[in-house]
Order: sequence, then structure tokens, then C-alpha cells
Amino acid sequence: MAYYQHPLDVTRLPTWQALQAHRDSLQNFSMRDAFAADAKRFERMSLSSCGLFLDYSKNLITAQTREMLVSLAREAGLERSIKALFDGELINASESRPALHTALRRPFGDRLLVNGENVMPDVHRVLNQMTELVGRIHNGLWRGYTEKPITDVVNIGIGGSFLGPQLVSEALLPFAERGVRCHYLANIDGSEFHELSAKLRAETTLFIVSSKSFNTLETLKNAQAARQWYLAQGGTEAQLYRHFIAVSSNLEAAVAFGIHEENVFPMWDWVGGRYSLWSAIGLPIALAIGMSSFKELLSGAYSMDQHFKTAPFEQNMPVLMALLGIWYGNFWGAQSQAILPYDHYLRNITKHLQQLDMESNGKSVLQDGTPVHCATGPVIWGGVGCNGQHAYHQLLHQGTQLIPADFIVPVVSYNPVSDHHQWLYANCLSQSQALMLGKTLEEACAELRSKGMDEDEVQRLAPHKVIPGNRPSNTLVLERISPRRLGALVALYEHKVFAQSAIWGINAFDQWGVELGKELGKGVYSRMVGSEESGAEDGSTQGLIDYFRGRHRG
Ligand code: F6P
Repeated sequence: MAYYQHPLDVTRLPTWQALQAHRDSLQNFSMRDAFAADAKRFERMSLSSCGLFLDYSKNLITAQTREMLVSLAREAGLERSIKALFDGELINASESRPALHTALRRPFGDRLLVNGENVMPDVHRVLNQMTELVGRIHNGLWRGYTEKPITDVVNIGIGGSFLGPQLVSEALLPFAERGVRCHYLANIDGSEFHELSAKLRAETTLFIVSSKSFNTLETLKNAQAARQWYLAQGGTEAQLYRHFIAVSSNLEAAVAFGIHEENVFPMWDWVGGRYSLWSAIGLPIALAIGMSSFKELLSGAYSMDQHFKTAPFEQNMPVLMALLGIWYGNFWGAQSQAILPYDHYLRNITKHLQQLDMESNGKSVLQDGTPVHCATGPVIWGGVGCNGQHAYHQLLHQGTQLIPADFIVPVVSYNPVSDHHQWLYANCLSQSQALMLGKTLEEACAELRSKGMDEDEVQRLAPHKVIPGNRPSNTLVLERISPRRLGALVALYEHKVFAQSAIWGINAFDQWGVELGKELGKGVYSRMVGSEESGAEDGSTQGLIDYFRGRHRG
């Protein structure tokens, strides 16, 4: 068995033990004092790569901490794991597959063998197939059943067949090309289909059924609903091929649905759903921004791949972010990570990173199936700033949990309105600063006294205004979002997640945990709508089924 199938118990590594002692020695570490003591702390704890600037100086670390974390990565064999990732070794051990989303952004002419076959020609053939389709639709050469050009494209897909494309097409709205409006239909809730279809005309709508398995309940039900809607609107079976294409690794099922074989864009089993926006799953992106910008997106990700492969760990952006997450999760008891984009166009990045991180690292067994020895993936949450400041930042500032935060902010706005961008940027920095500085009781008292408050009132109110501070955050700064920089940003998080999985010894590329709910759902459904009124359900599930049956009886 390969090395990753005999993962180390990372907690038994010498540096892991040393880090525990080091953490204890930092019990009274103060970021305020660290900045006061080292005027070059910002310079020493920040780096640029691929159009991104990472300031990680507002963290509970010293230079020694960074050295020890890097040593941990080396002792855990991260170099070898990175090589295994890019070389296509079977690092998805439970499914005996490689994880080669990085192949999708490698340049023309590269060679990469999977099962002895160079897969790169196939990767680029699909890119050419995408280019052909996008061109025909943008040029009005793809006609619907009434011979009109396509005006609306609906991506029917969920999870990785939805979140990545949605993030990128929204984030790159400033790069949207003429004409085609892109929509996303993901959930099985009929209201989503109802609200969307009301905006569409079947004769000028193209549906992309995006499903690696072509066996996902929500997607298949929505595809059927779209098909029925298309027919009800006047479309014919004979012309259905003009309005339905697919992206899938299950060609047989897609053709059985009624999609012409030449309109099924292939996916490979060595690309995981949450890592697939770089594949033909990215068709909605390409239709929104054009193939040239889509290839810029790929190029940005490729640049981050090269950085991840070659930069020394001390200067490696994904590795440092991964190690900081391990530092807080495994040595400071943090159980969640906030992602706070101060950019309207990046407002949905948290949703994509939730699946990327939590479906990859929400695991409790090692690659060999034995139980893990430490905490693994955190809860990923957050949302766009400044909105979060008026929603959940209270807990970040005065709650009882340590929650590291990643701020993401552009320096320049696409849409300058008065001094709005200056305030947006100032708020991003001040939130990170407030998390670090906090407010002492003395400072709170002085502030209240300066407002002329009497001493009794000062003593009563001041404790409520104390902010613990010393709370860590990273700040990622970019000029402004672009295809290339967005590609690098998403790849940065892909590699951060992978690096953590490799150090923990878990498999970032399977997702067995989602199967049980799907299986149980079939039994619950049959008891809700079928003849058998009760089965082996627990009292709660049976009671709730009865509630549904009672309301829908007759
Ligand atoms: O949530 C399980 C999952 O398989 C995800 O990993 C995947 O992105 C999503 O469902 C959709 O799967 P498919 O693309 O096969 O429809």
C-alpha cells in the first residue's frame, strides 16, 4: 500500500508534542505587544503570490511558531503528499482514484499519465468542445426550436455542480459578455423552479444538466421538471436536443435522458465535484464571461499550483494558511473559521468554500480507515462585509469562542461611488484591527469618563464594553477581482484544504458521509406517499411522517 494509506499519527510527531508546549508558553501572548516590539512584524509576516497579498501578521504566532509549524508540515511528509497530488497518485485511497483537478488548468502540450494514458489531450479536447459551444451560442448560431438564438442558460446542478460556477460567474460579472443570461437551478424545492421558469421562454432557453454521476435526486428531478416545462411551452421531443445538454461522467444516463451524445461534455472520475469548476462544469462560467476569460481563470489557478508546488513552506501561501488553521484548530480549540469577503462580487465565496473545506475535511477516519487522532475540518461560515458587522461580528468580538477570520478585500472598486470603497476598505481593516486590539476595562472606563458619565454609571457600564481582543485574522488583499486573480484565490483555498488533509492523514476527496441521508430519504419518502403507513422509523420520524400524511390525506 502507498504511504498515504499508512498515514502517520501526526500527534505523535516530535514537533506536534513541542507545539503543545509552545502553545502553553504563548498563553499570555499579546498581538498588541508583538507589534509594539517589532516594527517589521507586518513585513516579516506577509507575502505576495499570483496577484494576491497575504497579511498574516495578526495571528497568535511568533517567528518560532512559524518555524515549528513548517517543521510539522515537513515531518508529516507534506512535500511528498504535494508531489503525489500533482503526479496523479491514488491519494483518494477509499475510491482508489487520483485527484487531478490541477490537470484541468495545465497548459497545452503537458503530459500527465493516468493509468498509463496521457490525459492532457482529452482535457484540451473538452476545452475546445466548450469553446465551440460558447462561440455558437454567443454568435447566435445555436438556435432553439423556433429558430431563435439562446438568450438564457440554466445550469441544473447542485453541490460542486453549482456552487463553484455560481461563485465564479457572479464574481466575474464585470467580465460578463453580451447576451446570455446565466441562471442556477439547484434545490429540489419546487418554488425555486417556479420562480426561475417564470422568467424564461422555452424557445430561447438552454438547460445544462450538470451532474458528474447523473444520478443526483435534486438534479434529475429538476431536469425532468425542465423537460416537462419545455414541452408544455411548445417544445417538441424531436427538438429537445437543442435545449438540453449535459456535463457528466455518466454518458449512458445522459443519452438515456434524451441528450445527444455530442452534447454530453465529459467529466473524469479523477475530478471531485467540489474541485470541478475548471472542467466542463464551468460551462455556465464560460457562457457568462467567454472562453478567453475562462482560460484566464484557469491560468490564475495554474499559477497558484506552481506556487504551491515550488515555494518553500515559509513562503508558501496555501501551506501557511493551512498551518495557521491547524494551529488554531488543534492547539487553541477553534472549531470554526470565518470567511469575510469585503467585496460584493465575492459575496458567495463562503458558500463554495463551505463545500470545498467541509466536504473535504469533515472526516473522522484516516486514509487507512482507522480513527483520527486529532480534530480535523472546521465549520466554515461567514459572509460579505460590511453586512456581517451588523449581524454576527458581535460574537467575533465579544463571544466566548476563538474564531479565526480570513478577510478578503480589493484595493480598487469596479464601481466607485463617492467614497464608498474607501469606507469599505477602512471597515475591513478596522474589523481586523478591533479583533486584535480589543478594549481593556481601563480603556472602556476612560472612554465613558471622557463622555462625562458619572462614576457609578461608568462602573456599571464599562464591563459590558470590554472586548477581549487578541483574536487572530488573515487579510488577503488583491487589486480587484479578475479571472486570473479569482483562479488563484480559489486554487489557494483548494491547496490549503489539501495541505491540512495531508497533515492530518485524511482523505480530502471522498464524501461517504452524504450517502446515509440519501438512503434513508428513500424510505421516508415511500412512507410519506406510499400505501404502507408505518415502518421501522423511530418515533420522531414516524410522527413527522404522520403529520405530513394527515395534512395531505384525501
Ligand atoms: O454532496 C454529494 C455530492 O456528490 C457532491 O460531492 C457533489 O458536488 C454533488 O453531490 C453533486 O453530485 P453530481 O455532480 O454527481 O450530481
